[in-house]
Amino acid sequence: MAENERTDDKSGDSGGKPQKKLRVLLRTFGCQMNQADSEVAMGIIGESHLDAEFVEDRDTADVILINTCSVRDHAEQRVFGLLRELKARKQKRPKRIIGVMGCMAVEYKEKLFREFPHIDFICGAKDIDKLPELIDDASRNIQKAVITEEGYGVHEGKLALRKDGVCALVPITHGCDNYCSYCIVPYVRGREISRPTEEILDELNYLAEKGYKQIVFLGQNVNSYGAGLKTKITFTGLLKKAAEINGIELIEFMTSHPKDASDELIEAMASDPKISKHIHLPVQSGSNVILRKMKRNYTREAYLQIVKTLQKSVLDVSITTDIIVGFPGETDSDFNDTIELMKAVPFDASFIFKYSPRAGTEAHKLPDNVPQAEKERRNQALLEIQNELSAAQNSRYIGRAMKALIVQKSRKNADEFLAVTWNDKLVVVPGKGLALGNVIDVTLDELSNNTFKGTVTAIGSKK
Ligand code: 5AD
Ligand code: SF4
Repeated sequence: MAENERTDDKSGDSGGKPQKKLRVLLRTFGCQMNQADSEVAMGIIGESHLDAEFVEDRDTADVILINTCSVRDHAEQRVFGLLRELKARKQKRPKRIIGVMGCMAVEYKEKLFREFPHIDFICGAKDIDKLPELIDDASRNIQKAVITEEGYGVHEGKLALRKDGVCALVPITHGCDNYCSYCIVPYVRGREISRPTEEILDELNYLAEKGYKQIVFLGQNVNSYGAGLKTKITFTGLLKKAAEINGIELIEFMTSHPKDASDELIEAMASDPKISKHIHLPVQSGSNVILRKMKRNYTREAYLQIVKTLQKSVLDVSITTDIIVGFPGETDSDFNDTIELMKAVPFDASFIFKYSPRAGTEAHKLPDNVPQAEKERRNQALLEIQNELSAAQNSRYIGRAMKALIVQKSRKNADEFLAVTWNDKLVVVPGKGLALGNVIDVTLDELSNNTFKGTVTAIGSKK
């Protein structure tokens, strides 16, 4: 922990006004795990003595908290840009508190104070419970960094301030033990730790009582859930226990590492009506040479075999992936292997990233020798292939009857709802007679921008 007494003036602009709530703005960068952490952060701040309210408006916020992502340079540059912008604003209004949490907090630690002295506090990903104290200290001019790198951290899942009452993000593991050669996550999120099963089930029961219908289990590698727990359990075992909870209708999960995607999991996806038929299975590359350099611990052939089993076993399975282009030493021939793999696997969606060297990772020692323009070209080429794949995959469902869960009011049209199918397709439906959380039978009529329009044929079905 680092602590500094600050000299800047915080006795500023509230003189004489009636006491108002502390206005907190929380900006979240990065993945769903960060989103889940932000929900817990808001819950902890909201329940504390701070009398806080959460706002979107940067100009009037008393506290600006940034939950950061380190996975690629681009994400970091956005945070640095925001911090630079906040510097001028802070000069105008010194009383405002600026805090940095999440992966960049752990990566850079106190170094952030040197470059951005207007930051009031830095909070590690495992220190979210200390946010109220850090905000208090900042209001007393104490600049502090609290970063716990190892251990369990906080999982105040029940406290999380979730925006909608239907879908809940539920982390089941924290950290990662895989050390893929390009990836900074194990360094900033620590070693992999599974949450105790009882704690997760207790949270799910609580969520079910509150009316939540959809659960998204989160972890860097959900398939290794259970490793290190006293009571032996696999990820599929956890899924099955979760599926027994009354009220929960749909259980999604991400991310699955191909090296750990088991036949047991595929069998459960095929047979359990509450388990999602969507799997996010990052392949990263179609070239065995590159997969080896990435330390992914599977081959292209093994990946294709899992896909085959999924397609054979799980009706209407949807497979999505992550791909990195321009990894050090990726030749035209390696890249071609990735193109060929995409042609062999009809991915429903792909997230394509340009390789970004991360200090401290193994791949950082290799020359980043694919020129930026070539990374861009490869990125573009894969996006084009994916657009065609998504269109082809989705058009297969036009005219089909499917089961779906109403998850949101449509943002575009107040008379419509957004529903999600069991294989993660989005469908807009007319809202008449429907409520959030309903399970419906829907016919998928038409498709635009990967979202369907549908006709509801039954409400309340639990096929
Ligand atoms: N450069 C580019 N993409 C990366 N990812 C992780 N680390 C890097 C990196 N250094 C991608 C991987 C991962 C996703 C979350 O981010 O594809 O699956
Ligand atoms: Fe990073 Fe690999 Fe862990 Fe995913 S599995 S978080 S890519 S190290």
